Formats: sequence, structure tokens, C-alpha cells
Amino acid sequence: MCGIIGYKGKKHPKDILINGLKNLEYRGYDSAGVALKNDDTIQIIKSVGKISHLEEKLNNEKLIDCNLGIAHTRWATHGEPNESNAHPHRVGKITLVHNGIIENAGVLREQLQKEGVKFNSNTDTEVAAAIINKYYTGDMEKALNKAIKEIKGSYALAILCEDDDKLYAIRCESPLILGVGKDEYFVTSDIGAILKYTRDYVLLGENEIVVIDNKGYKITKDNKVVKREVLTSKLTNEATDLCGYDHYMMKEIMEEPVLVDNLANKYIHNLKKLPDIKKYQHIHIIGCGSAYYAGMVGKNLFEDAGVEVEIDVASEYRYRNIIYKPNTLVILISQSGETADTIAAMRKANEHADTLAIVNVDASTIARECTYKVLIEAGREVAVATTKAYLLQVLILSLLAYRLDPDGTYVEDLKKLPQQLKVLLDKTGFYKKLADAIYKHEDVFFIGRKVDYAISMEGSLKLKEVSYIHSDAYQAGELKHGTISLIKDGTIVFAIATDDDIRDKTISNLEEVISRGAYPIYVGNEDVAYDHKIIVPRINKKLQPILVVPALQMIAYFVALKRGCDIDKPKNLAKSVTVE
Ligand code: AGP
Repeated sequence: MCGIIGYKGKKHPKDILINGLKNLEYRGYDSAGVALKNDDTIQIIKSVGKISHLEEKLNNEKLIDCNLGIAHTRWATHGEPNESNAHPHRVGKITLVHNGIIENAGVLREQLQKEGVKFNSNTDTEVAAAIINKYYTGDMEKALNKAIKEIKGSYALAILCEDDDKLYAIRCESPLILGVGKDEYFVTSDIGAILKYTRDYVLLGENEIVVIDNKGYKITKDNKVVKREVLTSKLTNEATDLCGYDHYMMKEIMEEPVLVDNLANKYIHNLKKLPDIKKYQHIHIIGCGSAYYAGMVGKNLFEDAGVEVEIDVASEYRYRNIIYKPNTLVILISQSGETADTIAAMRKANEHADTLAIVNVDASTIARECTYKVLIEAGREVAVATTKAYLLQVLILSLLAYRLDPDGTYVEDLKKLPQQLKVLLDKTGFYKKLADAIYKHEDVFFIGRKVDYAISMEGSLKLKEVSYIHSDAYQAGELKHGTISLIKDGTIVFAIATDDDIRDKTISNLEEVISRGAYPIYVGNEDVAYDHKIIVPRINKKLQPILVVPALQMIAYFVALKRGCDIDKPKNLAKSVTVE
């Protein structure tokens, strides 16, 4: 997925576009580019690598005088990260930037080449520009409407035409919003890119085209004008400021106690504000990555409350032949609400069942298209590796489980949780020391059973995602069926053992690997005689994962720091995977 931004107004776009790209860098950052336009010229400047490289280039070039431009930060899907594949792409009179995937790009490219089009890149984006150029005979809206019918896939485009000074944009599945400023307008993938200039925005719908000119903007769909409400974002620009931390990941971890407190207080005495999931006999929980691992915690909690739960990663669920039983609720978990696989799974589920979105971004596709939604209110999460959003997803699932099965100590334990989290997070010296013992290793395993296995999955993902250490999580009982052959002298194995009923089983699995040379790190709520251990207070089972995972997040952070990794923007990753 990539990030796009376009500007038309009274100012020169350069600083606006660069500031926007810096706020979109979390969506992909292997190359970037800008196109500036005035009556006579379109100036295109691109660079490989981070936005700062592009900014340097712009600072060293003579820029045309203008008040119209588009820009793009890329996460390569078609074509390696290099300047020729970087956006913007220009074909004939059309210059554009694109987020998404043109799924029939190959077929269209072949057809266009037969018609004499010469391509300079191997991107699907250049094909989109060529299609629009092919249909452009003086009327851009007509050309865009024809192109929409031919281009298949998910795409958000910001477009310039050589013959006019308008800014065009199309939204088809990939996120795109129209920012409404004072005599200036923006189109962008994420409102965070323009919060510095305006918090007023319009959410564009599927296959809608927006045309921005000197008089304002017009939204159409199939050539009919569409009226859309101007919304005001609650986010402030502060959310994208480090507030003194070295990395957004640390800032966002340290926000967890307050955010948990806020969300808990919002619901604990108003559980009826949460969807009444008691009326469903069957629950499916779907997500990707950390969202899926949060769902794994939810599955354990719901099953303990007596509900039948099926769980799957969205990329599998969307293609499986699911037998939907009557009275099924499908829960879709997503921080961004724009993950392509999760959107596809949601749209499939919507045809057969009620759906519940557990999301962070209110204006997102998943938030808008589910039957119900619960916002996790994490605020903007900038670091690509999710921390606070994951934890709040787990809290919502925990509150839903409590609503299913209200048990004794939950409310009072929930009250104590934020303070306990603060104490847990304050142990930075301890986590740094543990990181010193870990960071030179190339293999780290996590093991656990039931909810501890779910915690292990997230702990392992956090570590590998930011430190690039190979890490895997296994059901503790599975080790002896193969993985144990990988254990050698000094191999680090985290054993997560918070569930009283099966702690001893996990400890004996830990002993099995210790006897083969493993270096154990025990994580639990019962003190044990291991040299390296993280002991957390024992709390209500429905809340325990929330008091364990932040310790693993801190360890991942400090290991990545020791390894000199780009913590907030790990290589090859993006914050929101809006392509399949
Ligand atoms: C988590 O740290 C990763 N960045 C990734 O696994 C992420 O959780 C996954 O891509 C799902 O994103 P979503 O929550 O926005 O749908």
C-alpha cells in the first residue's frame, strides 16, 4: 500500500506535499515523488528511499511557481523500488499517483502496447495513466468514467491533466478522503497527512470522482453529482508528534495505561453500549497479523464463557468455503479498518451474518460497512508495529467476554489495571538488560498454551517485526512434534505461563528445551526459580493478557534499539496493508 496526497489552493504545494508524505510514510517508504503543475509545465521529481531524500532533492531544484500538485510515497507491489517505478507516472497528458493494485494491469498493458503505448516502468500505475490518457479527448470527467469501467482492482488516484489547472481524484476501494480547507483542498489516503492544515474532510464513496477547481469541488458517481457531508476529525496534529520520545513505538506503548483506563471507564458500567453478543450462538473472529492475535485471545475468553468460536486470518477466510450457521456473528478486528484481506472477509461475511468491527479508525471502510462497530479509541497509531491498538482490541474483547460471563473480580481488577500497567512499563532498566541478552541471537522461540499461546504469537511478531530476529511461537505441546530439533545451546525460549490450569504443562515443556541447551525466559504470574523471568501480578483471567503483552512489546523495542533497526518503519512493512 502507498500513501497519496494532492493539493490545490493558494499556496505553493511543496511544503504541504512533503509534510503530508512524512505523515503517510508509515504506509510505505521505498520511494517517493512529487508532480507540480502550472499553466505551462508539469514538473516531476522522484527519489528512492525515505521522504527525506525527496525533500533534499526538492530543496536543491528550481521549482516552478504553482499552487497545484500531487505526491506519493510507495510500498512496492508491482516493480522494484527505483526511480522509474516511483510515482508520479505520466503518460501523454495525464500525470497521476496511485494507492492500491490494478488487478488487470497485465492485460491492459498488453492491449495498450499493441496500440503503440510505450511504458517506462513496470508498474500497474503507469497502466492506469495510459488508460485515462487513451480516453482523454478533451473531457477529463468523461475519460475518468470510461477508465473506471475498464480498470479492475482497488485504487485511489490523484490526477493532473496537462490541459487544465484542476485536481482530479478517484476512489475505488482504497481509502481516499477530500480535505476541505479555507480556499484550499486536499485529497489524501489518510487525514493525518493534512491535520496541520484542516480537520474538515469528506469521505469519498466507492467509484466516486472528485474534481477540484478554482471555485471549489464537485463529487460525481456515474456522471451524477453526489452530495457528501463535511466531517470534522477528532484527531489533532499532536498525535503525530513524538512528544519527546525517541520513537512513536515507545510513545504509543507508554500511552497504554491511560488509554486502557479511558476505554475501561467508558464501558465497564455501561456494558449495554457494547453489542449484545449473547444473542449469537456462533462467533467467527477474523483479522490479520496482530489483529488476528488479539482475536486469538478473544477466542479463548469467549470459549471460557461458553460460546462456540471459530477464528481465521482474513486472507484465508475470504477464500474458504465457510458453512454459516444461523445466528452467527462475525467479528472483524482491524486497527486501520482498511486492510484489504479483512475488508474482503467482511464483505463476504456481510452476505451471511451480522458483523462487528473492532477498529481504531472511525471513518474506515470496515467501521462503515459492518453491522455494528466498537471503536478502540487508541488515537492515531503511527508506528508500523502496533502496540496500543492491539492492547485495546484485547480490552474490547475482554469486556465482551465479561458481558457474556460477568465474574467476581473483573471490575475491581479492571480498576487496578492501569496502575499495574504503569508499574510494568516503568521497568525499562530490566527490559534493557534482557534485551542485552537477546539482541545478538538470530532465533528466538515463544511457547504457551491456550491464551498464553495467543500471547506468544503477538510477542513473537513484535520481536521479529521490529528487530528482524527470526522468531516463532508454538503451542507448548507442539514443540516435541518437530520444532524441538531446532533447539541448540543457548537458543532463547520465552515460556508464557499465566494460566493456572496448565502452567505445569508449559513448565515441563520449558524443562524439555532447557535440557537441550535452551536459554529460558519465563513469563508468568507465579514466581519460579528461573534466572530470567518476568513476573506480573495475577489478575482476572479475562484481563491477564493485557498485563503481559506490554512487557513483550518493551523487550521487542529495546532489542530493536540495540540492533540499530528503524523501529517505527521496519523494512518491507507498512502500517496498513491495503492490497491483497
Ligand atoms: C502489527 O504490528 C503489524 N503491523 C500487522 O501485523 C498488522 O497488525 C496487520 O497488518 C493488521 O493491520 P490492521 O489492524 O490495520 O488491519
